[in-house]
Amino acid sequence: MSDATSVISAKRDGHELTADQIDWVIDAFTRGVVADEQMAALAMAIFWRGMSRSELSRWTSAMIASGSTMDFSGLPRPTVDKHSTGGVGDKITLPLAPLVAACGAAVPQLSGRGLGHTGGTLDKLESISGWRADLTGDDIHRILADPAVGAVVCAANADLAPADKRLYALRDVTGTVESIPLIASSIMSKKIAEGTGALVLDVKVGAGAFMKNLADARTLAEAMVDLGSDAGVRTIALLTAMDSPLGLTAGNALEVEESLEVLAGGGPADIVELTVTLARTMLSAAGIEGVDPADKLADGTAMDRWKAMISAQGGDPSAPLPVAAESHDITAESDGVITGLDAMGVGVAAWRLGAGRERQGEPVQAGAGVRLHAKPGDRVTAGQKIATLYTDTPEKFEYATAAMADAWSFGDTFEASPIVLERVGG
Ligand code: URA
Repeated sequence: MSDATSVISAKRDGHELTADQIDWVIDAFTRGVVADEQMAALAMAIFWRGMSRSELSRWTSAMIASGSTMDFSGLPRPTVDKHSTGGVGDKITLPLAPLVAACGAAVPQLSGRGLGHTGGTLDKLESISGWRADLTGDDIHRILADPAVGAVVCAANADLAPADKRLYALRDVTGTVESIPLIASSIMSKKIAEGTGALVLDVKVGAGAFMKNLADARTLAEAMVDLGSDAGVRTIALLTAMDSPLGLTAGNALEVEESLEVLAGGGPADIVELTVTLARTMLSAAGIEGVDPADKLADGTAMDRWKAMISAQGGDPSAPLPVAAESHDITAESDGVITGLDAMGVGVAAWRLGAGRERQGEPVQAGAGVRLHAKPGDRVTAGQKIATLYTDTPEKFEYATAAMADAWSFGDTFEASPIVLERVGG
């Protein structure tokens, strides 16, 4: 037994919280006994004071214990999931989940809807006619056990780490999202509760990511790998670049369309490289050897899995994707080489066009977003079309264009940098 004020002041004064204090505060917060303002104060104290490895491990366990957990240990294939900390144009889950299933793993991918500039995987898939994100535990098991499917991307059940749901909503409005221990415990409580046997984390680094520099991204990755390992989940993290958007599209149906290009054996080189690298890492984490995901993209097996995965969740993989009612082109103002394209500017533009939401529960536009015609490294001439914006609500064009106005940098030369920057764990 404890009380909220003493837990808050202990953390405020830089003390390590005891296991009892942590268990009590998370449980009491979940039951509504600790008030939102008290938890917000504790989150701010954690933001400034941090947490030790043992505190973080206990905090994460308490968040898991706040709800139910899933168990896939009875499946005939190893389970492996991927989590990205969020980036602009990050549609990698879409080709990755069926690809890894085609290579022999079961992929239980419990995802969220987007809030802010990075868009959510479920919003993207919901642009496919008939596709449903809400599945029961039995549905998930059945689809994962089906040797012709083996991958599921769906909404996390409300009882999976409910303490995190409440705490994340509170952090979102109290300036406490960007805390490494709070991010690490938030992500890992959900992933461990989800019951995956192995996990690959794509920790984004750069202007369009939570973590703006490599040192912070490394610290976050190490914290999450430790939490996974402590919980018996084989966890590997890749630190990957998120200065400019991934691929050439940001927006729901636009990103599905680009994912289909990748599954058809084409698509932008950065998306293909990251998809194949993450797939290889997931297979190694799951202990599957002797199969190369690049072959499964090339021979159409991954595309067949995609169709099976979409159909298994009520979607029609052959239905045309929604297209926005209106479009607006952006042209280059001068000749030169594009030396940079700020991911945040593109993400905010897509969001303002209607691809994302400002408040939880708001609808999103399936066809809204940004299609890039040029990326860093490309030489352009003045007047050349470099991007097209899409929306059903054309009054949003001006506001969206403003978000991208300073996103482009031009110069004479460009030096490409790698996508995968580092690996942690494994
Ligand atoms: N994603 C999460 O699930 N939690 C965080 O705290 C940040 C990103």
